[in-house]
Amino acid sequence: MARTPKDASVKVPSGARNGAPADAGDEQLTGLKELERQLRHHDERYYRQAEPEISDATYDELRDRYAALAQALAIPEAERYGRKPGDDHTAGFETVRHRVPMLSLEKAATEPALLGSLQDEGRDLPLARVPAERAQRGATALGKLEQWERRVRRDLGLDPEAPLPVVIEPKIDGISVSLVYEGGRLARAATRGNGIEGDVITAQVAAAEAVPLTVRARGSFEIRGELYLPRAEFDRLNGLLVEAGERPLVNPRNGCAGLMKRKDAEALRGKGVRSFLYSIAWHEGVKLPGPHWERLAWVREHGFAVHSGIARVDGIAAAYDHCLAYAAKRPTLDHDIDGMVVKLDDTSAWAGLGETEHHPKWGIAYKFPPERVATRLKDVTVQVGKTGRLTPVAELEPVFVAGTTVSRASLHNFAEVKAKDVRIGDMVLIEKAGEIIPQVVRVDLAKRPKGAREIPWPRCCPVCETEVVVERHTDPSGKEAVGHYCPNPACPAQVRERLRHFSSRGAMDIQGLGSAVVDKLVERGIATRPDALYRLQAEQLATLEMEVASNGVRRTFGPRNAENLLRALHDSKARGLARVLAGLSIHDLGEKLSEDLAARFASWDDLLAFARDYLADEPKAALAVRKNLKREPLLAYATRLGLELPDGATKDQIAGAIKAADIHAFGGIDETTAEVVFREITSPTVESVVGGLAAAGVSLRSVREATAAIAGVAGKTFVLTGTLPTLARGDAEKLIKAAGGKCSGSVSAKTDYVVAGDEAGSKLAKAKELGVAVIDEAGLRTLLG
Ligand code: IVH
Repeated sequence: MARTPKDASVKVPSGARNGAPADAGDEQLTGLKELERQLRHHDERYYRQAEPEISDATYDELRDRYAALAQALAIPEAERYGRKPGDDHTAGFETVRHRVPMLSLEKAATEPALLGSLQDEGRDLPLARVPAERAQRGATALGKLEQWERRVRRDLGLDPEAPLPVVIEPKIDGISVSLVYEGGRLARAATRGNGIEGDVITAQVAAAEAVPLTVRARGSFEIRGELYLPRAEFDRLNGLLVEAGERPLVNPRNGCAGLMKRKDAEALRGKGVRSFLYSIAWHEGVKLPGPHWERLAWVREHGFAVHSGIARVDGIAAAYDHCLAYAAKRPTLDHDIDGMVVKLDDTSAWAGLGETEHHPKWGIAYKFPPERVATRLKDVTVQVGKTGRLTPVAELEPVFVAGTTVSRASLHNFAEVKAKDVRIGDMVLIEKAGEIIPQVVRVDLAKRPKGAREIPWPRCCPVCETEVVVERHTDPSGKEAVGHYCPNPACPAQVRERLRHFSSRGAMDIQGLGSAVVDKLVERGIATRPDALYRLQAEQLATLEMEVASNGVRRTFGPRNAENLLRALHDSKARGLARVLAGLSIHDLGEKLSEDLAARFASWDDLLAFARDYLADEPKAALAVRKNLKREPLLAYATRLGLELPDGATKDQIAGAIKAADIHAFGGIDETTAEVVFREITSPTVESVVGGLAAAGVSLRSVREATAAIAGVAGKTFVLTGTLPTLARGDAEKLIKAAGGKCSGSVSAKTDYVVAGDEAGSKLAKAKELGVAVIDEAGLRTLLG
């Protein structure tokens, strides 16, 4: 599990992309892929692990460079990385297609540079201080809200003086939920997912008692809103977790998202998850009032929770005023809100206003500026990560920021410390990135005390004293990044971090194996690798001496804790391949990629064989990962596969022959990541650890829905359109998925079959245009056998 450096020595195979202009150099495409890999990596660190390696500003720069390069290379929007915001799909959850897509709202926020000193207090511009000059005004939240109002008035043919009632609602920082009620009962609850398909969480929502299970309205309707964990419940749960030696939840939103994805739904009972509902997506056999304001009243009268902070005002200026006034109430609420939502009251105009690919035009979200507070930097310590990365950590005078007390903040890396000229003793401004992770934004130079100390770059690992390796890495746009690493895989800090990571919630989720126990196991040399955990004996654990308590009493782990931990270890053996992979601390192999790999390979052995084939450039494996190859390399692989091709075959013909030979690219991994991950997977250390896990009885098989793969359907992508004669769309999808196939909502060159019924429209036309096979219900039934 030694870290694989991501420097220039990593082989980056080059390739071209369909649709790129002829002069688009391979180098630029490689650069784009490298940027994509970095974004993927940082997204994983931030969203899944809540341990970012770079600051928000550096991340934004990376994103901007990616967008500029993708634009220059004319990469179609649909093929760019990160087009869809945060897909919440979790492996093992049934998915369902939303009858109406769950889009998001356009955002209005003031650019930080304009906020100046106000931003240091986390306040937006009061109306009187919004600049009059057009360009500057356009960079403020009010300017953006005004643009929205102008567009709405234009599209509705309203003159500037005509009344424009809008409803303002607090923007709850929870997780979006869709609830379908049929005949007075909750029939289905689902997450937003990717907006098109979400995960079914009916049992979780019901057990949490977060929404009414029965309503008096008899028809069918879908109501949408937000699930959230009140702050008090969050504190209570965290108290329990810390007491049990577990890692605490990072914030109420993440806590709520984690709870709703618990497979054992009953565990949600009494956890305190609650909801606010705010829109009806569709309704049949239910009579609803027209204006949104009255609909919210209807929603409340039918037993749903509607936020008390809603208001109806005329026009955007009044709406902005309300937003500013409501911001001051944030500390008094029992839940987090990250802005306000402005919606046109007249719902009969909603459909006519239309929507973009991402946003409907009937509403806009006002975002609060991030809260910033000043505090003293007492010291800087160095943390050693599971891959040996050294991170400077700011030790702060404790301060309350955005809902929690902060006493430590990441300084990301030493180059950033230098760039920001941070010194010990400084007054620094703290902000929470994405409302989760505290970071030092800047130093208040006016308040620098005499004798503030510069922070030197470390020469030795603070734990094992091995000489530090400094890695300078130039990214594709020429920007230099510096990383400091402890190169000793046996460093006790690395060993400890790897074990902690292995037992963490996103990996093997071993209850009772908290940091304190891990520290002791490592200190005593009892367990230094994940597989050794499964060889622990009850006696050995029971007598493990823990830290001396503050009253000086010595205590041992004890027989009861030992028994519980052994049970938890035993239970964790069945978590399956994805969790094992995520727990191995392999560079670039996070939760998401682990899930993708486990979805593709039935077992560790299959994955290992594939990794070896890929590294040996075996055509089948290479083609499964390397997308968008040019004609020549494609032809070389086809020839090595012994495929019959006409003389002078075009690129499309070669690709067609490869597809016909049943070789399909799989998503989720790019070439650079594949190189890094597969090299480490095949390394002797990883093989030895995995061998130990297998010997201990840890399952290395994918835990998948019981699918009986049917050749001809398994691995193929289907798009359903129109009305099928006997099968309901949902049933057809279930049959396809049960046979190992995939269903998608849109037709592309990657679609294998379009199943068309009566009144099939644009999807059928697109299929014909792209030459995708079109079958009817009978054809589907034949395929399904
Ligand atoms: S209306 C087309 N109202 O904020 C989406 N959204 O982009 C219409 N949210 O993720 C959403 N509070 O889940 C609406 N009162 C509220 C909201 C709200 C929170 C979330 C929503 C979505 C995002 C808006």
